[in-house]
Amino acid sequence: MVSPMDTQKREQIAQLDHAHVWHPFTPMRQWREVTPLIIEQAEGDHLIDAEGNRYIDGVSSLWCNVHGHRVKEIDDAVRDQLDKVAHTTMLGLTHPVAVELAARLCELAPRELNKVFYSDAGATATEVAFKMAVGYQHHRGRTTRDTFIAIEGAYHGDTTGAMSVGYSETFHRAFESMVFHTEFVPAPSRDDAAPALATLEQRLVDQRDRVAAVVIEPLVQGAAGLVVHPDGYLRGVADLCRKHDVLLIVDEVATGFGRTGTMFACEQENVEPDLMCLGKGITGGYMPLAATLCTDEIAAAFEGELHEHRTLYHGHTYTGNPLACAAALASLDLFEQNNLLDEVNRKAALVATWLSPLEKQLVVTDIRQKGLMVGIELTPPGEQASVGFDPSRRLGYEVCAACRGKGVIIRPLGNVVVLMPPLAIRDENLKQLADAVVESISELTARLGDVHEQ
Ligand SMILES: Cc1ncc(COP(=O)(O)O)c(C=O)c1O
Repeated sequence: MVSPMDTQKREQIAQLDHAHVWHPFTPMRQWREVTPLIIEQAEGDHLIDAEGNRYIDGVSSLWCNVHGHRVKEIDDAVRDQLDKVAHTTMLGLTHPVAVELAARLCELAPRELNKVFYSDAGATATEVAFKMAVGYQHHRGRTTRDTFIAIEGAYHGDTTGAMSVGYSETFHRAFESMVFHTEFVPAPSRDDAAPALATLEQRLVDQRDRVAAVVIEPLVQGAAGLVVHPDGYLRGVADLCRKHDVLLIVDEVATGFGRTGTMFACEQENVEPDLMCLGKGITGGYMPLAATLCTDEIAAAFEGELHEHRTLYHGHTYTGNPLACAAALASLDLFEQNNLLDEVNRKAALVATWLSPLEKQLVVTDIRQKGLMVGIELTPPGEQASVGFDPSRRLGYEVCAACRGKGVIIRPLGNVVVLMPPLAIRDENLKQLADAVVESISELTARLGDVHEQ
């Protein structure tokens, strides 16, 4: 571990940050009004700031850390790879770790998925899937099938195509003219998949000949506020896609790699998608790497004689970066060695018990959970519950600020408090995380209750 930074250095970093860095998803004027928390190092479940204070990484560094930080096996794998090559292109060349990782991913993924296209972010993994879906339809002569059906509240990333199939008043207001048209269908209600499936089927019929694919976050819509779909919904969507001969794209960027208690969420409903998007946890949360998996049938549609112009002309400089692939292979080994999927299910039950005192709290209108993805919805007394990100809703922010004082870093989605710890989090740290959230929400309830009664 390095020793804490001196005050002068900290102030210099803060000042340079304020002068030069534009942070993602951050209202920057307000950001500059406070001293930034500088994370300088990390260890296991903890992030460590420049003064040496430790915080539990309660949202796993934006939903991606799997085994904790500075894990020896992954560190060693990256160092070993550094002794070979840090980066070489996948355009016209190959390298061993990308090949080995592709084979491992195909082994783990639903059976029909047999080809891997690498990129470097969840958003790019979805962009690739969209181009594969439309290209596949095009090469089969179905040239009008260039539209997607997506679910209201969906989030698939921030590149333009990913935005187009995402749904957010707040995020997209200024960019409406940039995005392409997408057909949105309502998300299912909590306990009944049937009405939403009926609407989807009607849309598939109405838009026959126009739809290339349905795109879905399987089981849980993350950025919408951890909206958990009812049992049978994903299966129903997959069946409708087959029936109406459109492709199914599952975006497992957030749910993949054990987050929901199985390696991939779609396994829980025995769904075999045509395309699957992976990111975030693929490297154990170490490096930017993403992958789009597809069936041999889709890949074959892009093959032919050169004059047929079927090639997928798409790629990114760091596609299949060797350091990232080495981290991913080491991460997959750790899943097996540590029996991590069983552990996720055990810890999911623990955290549910530890959070149960919240059910009595006035401001808590819902607790949603799938594996180690938890969303606690807060509603001010006297107001209607509503999900979806809205920056003007500040209760989630207030709870997260209170948690920081208790040694826990979490980040809300509007009024939804999100818990998404590293999957390998130690029980005592998970307990500290749950306790900090319960206490912070209790304090908020007491404060709001007082205000309400005045
Ligand atoms: C379901 C889903 N898809 C795609 C993305 C985008 O991933 P990235 O931020 O790596 O581009 C996210 C990010 O939260 C996500 O939750």
